[in-house]
Amino acid sequence: MSSSVEFHDRMLSLGLARVSEAAALASAKLIGRGDEKAADQAAVDAMRTQLNRLDIKGVVVIGEGERDEAPMLYIGEEVGSGSGPAVDIALDPLEGTTLTAKDMPNALAVIAMGPRGSMLHAPDVYMDKLAIGPGFRQGVVTLDMSPSERVSALASAKGCSTEDITVCVLERDRHDEMLDELRGTGAAIRLITDGDVAGVMHCAEPEKTGIDMYMGSGGAPEGVLAAAALKCMGGQMFGKLLFRNDDEKDRASKAGITNFDRVYTRDDMVTEDVIFAATGVTDGSLVPGIRREVGYLTAETILMRSKTGSVRRMTYRNPTS
Ligand code: FBP
Repeated sequence: MSSSVEFHDRMLSLGLARVSEAAALASAKLIGRGDEKAADQAAVDAMRTQLNRLDIKGVVVIGEGERDEAPMLYIGEEVGSGSGPAVDIALDPLEGTTLTAKDMPNALAVIAMGPRGSMLHAPDVYMDKLAIGPGFRQGVVTLDMSPSERVSALASAKGCSTEDITVCVLERDRHDEMLDELRGTGAAIRLITDGDVAGVMHCAEPEKTGIDMYMGSGGAPEGVLAAAALKCMGGQMFGKLLFRNDDEKDRASKAGITNFDRVYTRDDMVTEDVIFAATGVTDGSLVPGIRREVGYLTAETILMRSKTGSVRRMTYRNPTS
């Protein structure tokens, strides 16, 4: 029997929601406390404990880093009870460590799971990313187009003016030229200081978030997580690995990458049906963050399956004592 037959995503999805909830709840006490490392560590510990309760033979393919750099949830770490289906896991226990430390919007605890071999083993390098929501012909925008061509192409596909398009971009010096070109189109730009998994996910629900397109470079591991989310929510995504030196190319080779110039589509990054869970840590446009009341913490999770396109929003109220 192949691992995809054994992967009963429906049964595992609730368990996955528990994993992202646990990470978000654990980091909650560190929201706005100015300590990125402590917030991340709390989320990592809680995610790992909860993940190891699931009946899976899991391998972390997108994780906290290389084995020698990251003591927990490192790439290649085996997780789960060892008695279930063989699965790949992509995770970021705290996507937006600085957002959490500063209590800024859109920090998430995120995890995706698919059959073994279903996810790109992306090294920890940058990725040039481009994403739009569902409902457009495949390739209406591409990485080959210039930023302004992408805005024009999306505007004509939507039947609107370029001024009606909003593009989300990570605020980084490396994006200055791209931002200048985008400004020339008249499009609105939503600058985010961190958290491009959420940035990409925002494209899938433009009526709610006001964002039509995401572009720019960010972490490649976050790119695979975002591709998993869009596979569930609908929408297109393209990613190309960016290498700054030979050491980064070596890391990619070790991860099994042979073509350094390849443009990956969403379905190249995530080749089979997956499940995805994200729990809000700080308030965001897609999910609210952790709420505190006396004696309780409340977490909201978005839980999705690409096989059915189902999107569940779950609220979990957890006694703190
Ligand atoms: P952390 O949660 O690890 O701090 O990452 C946040 C993030 O903003 C990602 O969402 C994004 O992909 C990456 O950092 C961008 O990297 P850089 O800060 O080097 O531009």
